[in-house]
Amino acid sequence: MNTRVLTGITTTGTPHLGNYVGAIRPAIAASTQPGVDAFFFLADYHALIKCDDPARIARSRLELAATWLAAGLDPERVTFYRQSDVPEIPELCWMLTCVTSKGLMNRAHAYKASVDQNEAKGVDPDDGVTMGLFSYPVLMAADILMFNAHKVPVGRDQVQHLEMARDIAQRFNHLYGGGREFFVLPEAVVEEDVATLPGLDGRKMSKSYNNTIPLFEGGAKALRAAVMRIVTDSREPGEPKDAEGSHLYTLYRAFAAPDETAAFRRELEAGMGWGDAKEALCARIERDLAPMRGRYAELMADPDRIEDILQAGAAKARKLASPLMAELRAAVGLRNRPAAAAGGGAGKGRKQARARFVSFRDEDGRFRFRLLAAEGDELLVSVPYADPKEAGAMTRRLQSGPAAGLAGQDDGRCAVLLDGRAVAHGPAAAGEAAQAAWAGRLAQALESLGKE
Ligand code: TRP
Repeated sequence: MNTRVLTGITTTGTPHLGNYVGAIRPAIAASTQPGVDAFFFLADYHALIKCDDPARIARSRLELAATWLAAGLDPERVTFYRQSDVPEIPELCWMLTCVTSKGLMNRAHAYKASVDQNEAKGVDPDDGVTMGLFSYPVLMAADILMFNAHKVPVGRDQVQHLEMARDIAQRFNHLYGGGREFFVLPEAVVEEDVATLPGLDGRKMSKSYNNTIPLFEGGAKALRAAVMRIVTDSREPGEPKDAEGSHLYTLYRAFAAPDETAAFRRELEAGMGWGDAKEALCARIERDLAPMRGRYAELMADPDRIEDILQAGAAKARKLASPLMAELRAAVGLRNRPAAAAGGGAGKGRKQARARFVSFRDEDGRFRFRLLAAEGDELLVSVPYADPKEAGAMTRRLQSGPAAGLAGQDDGRCAVLLDGRAVAHGPAAAGEAAQAAWAGRLAQALESLGKE
């Protein structure tokens, strides 16, 4: 099986260099490796937690999609979708919420930071804390577990969320798996060197600190203007600089190859002025970004094209999500959603999620077949046939014709009647409701087979 790599990005602010270096670039690079199935998505449900401005959510979603595509994401090769186009994700989120202990969420850094701030201000510890913020890690776990991702490239600040996703997955597996592992335990992948870029003021580059360098927005001019505002120490040109201690150097290193970086470092140590260093940094970043910026502008001018790409991605994602969701619903004891309503999942996908005929020979050598439901249980057993071709013809007859009206009763059992004769039998007829349920499942199974 291929390694599944999945990452999401919250669709609030405008993408900045930190997003590019910390998430987008490594994820796209990983997606081009052989043996990798990559999943990238726009975490717009997560965006709602932080942002109640619909226009900003919509705008940011467009910008982010264009950014990923311009940065080299190939939507044919990877599964690229919008979280809110996959209803199985919030559904799984609820199931996971029900097995997640509140104590685990109490320990989440993002929540604790809010509580600390409130306590410092002397207000209620939970002031301004929504349930969305509190259970943010559960939704993130659902994003990851829904596709059984093995590896999740994230910034260092997200590592705790991955540990929580593992905890939640283990708990679910333990409670409902019965020896079966529904969920793979995901691993965080943090690119050691450059996972968190410093912002203009040296703190982590983040929308919340307002210290970001824009990626495409505003063009080369805006990039340059931001770089010129990066805080440096007061050493004059000619004085040796402390490369390791400077944010400029850290930013440079995030783009340059090791030999270029070493040369830059030597120049700093030899006394290059900060102004020149900033020009060098700009030029280096531009080399990577300029070609992408052109593609970005084209995409932003054609939102319908972006929308088409995202819709195709959602269909691909749901082909995987919906059969797994059907299994999970059954595992927790919820009624299975009829296959017809389960998005793209009725066709291809997991083998065990499809109805099928199985033929066999009984003790006296005659031929029969069974029909197994998508859930694996037996819906019916045919009458015996001397000739296997006859049995085969009957399976084709059953799945090609209209399924309605076949179900009846024979000899105290549910039965399939053709021209008044029983050709197959189901379970004992235990009242009208049970028989109707059986007939419904039979029709569903035959219909799904007929579509293949
Ligand atoms: N929490 C991530 C961030 O702020 C975004 C995100 C949401 C995510 N769901 C995810 C990242 C699943 C990786 C996997 O950056």
